[in-house]
Amino acid sequence: MNFKAEIQSRVNEIEGILKEFLPLEEGFQKSVMEAMNYSFLAGGKRLRPLFMSETFRLFEGQDKKFLEPFLAAIEMIHTYSLVHDDLPAMDNDEYRRGRKTTHVVYGEAMAILAGDGLLNYAFETAAKAFSLIDEEKEMEELKAYRKIARAIDILARKAGIHGMIGGQVVDIENSDKIIDQDRLDFIYHLKTGALVEASMMIGAILAGADDIYLKKIEAIASDVGLAFQIKDDILDVTSTSTVLGKPTHSDEKNQKTTYVTLMGVEKASTMVEELSQRAIDNFDSLPYRNEFLRTLIIDLIHRDH
Ligand code: IPE
Ligand code: IPE
Ligand code: MG
Ligand code: MG
Ligand code: MG
Repeated sequence: MNFKAEIQSRVNEIEGILKEFLPLEEGFQKSVMEAMNYSFLAGGKRLRPLFMSETFRLFEGQDKKFLEPFLAAIEMIHTYSLVHDDLPAMDNDEYRRGRKTTHVVYGEAMAILAGDGLLNYAFETAAKAFSLIDEEKEMEELKAYRKIARAIDILARKAGIHGMIGGQVVDIENSDKIIDQDRLDFIYHLKTGALVEASMMIGAILAGADDIYLKKIEAIASDVGLAFQIKDDILDVTSTSTVLGKPTHSDEKNQKTTYVTLMGVEKASTMVEELSQRAIDNFDSLPYRNEFLRTLIIDLIHRDH
């Protein structure tokens, strides 16, 4: 199988798992579930669950039953971050994942609530992993309690004020300002890097990886996340909205400092390559192998959406 077909087949598998965890659209509040599912089901590359499951595979994780709720949870948190990122009070964008944004379709109030709903539902979903522990084999599965608790802790921290939300705060505060590369890196490490770190770290934890490898995988994910956001800046000026499924020139509209405004497309592209190469060098220094994940990190350097 070639890489494109391989990625498609693994994303399809993830899509199937994600769907199992969607909330039912019922009750007097069903409009919020509809709005949550609208953005969640619009598609997207599903990279964060892919990073999680491939890191699980890297560390030779066996039983995927505890992993599955976390695949859904990370994608719910990512989707909520996009719903809120697109709001008029933030980036004010009307197109996402090839569809009208949630606030355009359901109104601003419902988009805020759908984002809040996805964030809470992510933790409800992750906590379901505890109920999958087989009580008959409680002694054998004792370690699972600790793994799941650690995974939930990472999910909360990396999505929160010291992670994604923290990054979005500094991004918004500096929207119409010229800032230096240090501050921009701070923003990118948090707003984008943190959820990539969470994805790979949770995959590692649930696979039972040793703590020394957890630090290494966090550093690898951090480089991958930074490279990913710089590439996002580049695509914002070089791609088309049809290919991206979201508007181009959003950063210019919001007068953001980006890697492109700081150093131009060419140097920014070199940064993407260098960061990805550093991630690959660290990846190759691990005593574990996952050829697919390695190729994915390299492939993202040249992604077109
Ligand atoms: C968009 O993330 C937001 C950034 C962190 C750049 P993705 O490019 O992964 O968005 P989807 O999930 O594919 O829509
Ligand atoms: C968003 O960064 C990162 C998030 C945490 C949502 P951007 O604002 O550049 O993402 P896009 O370009 O709208 O997807
Ligand atoms: Mg933004
Ligand atoms: Mg945006
Ligand atoms: Mg962007």
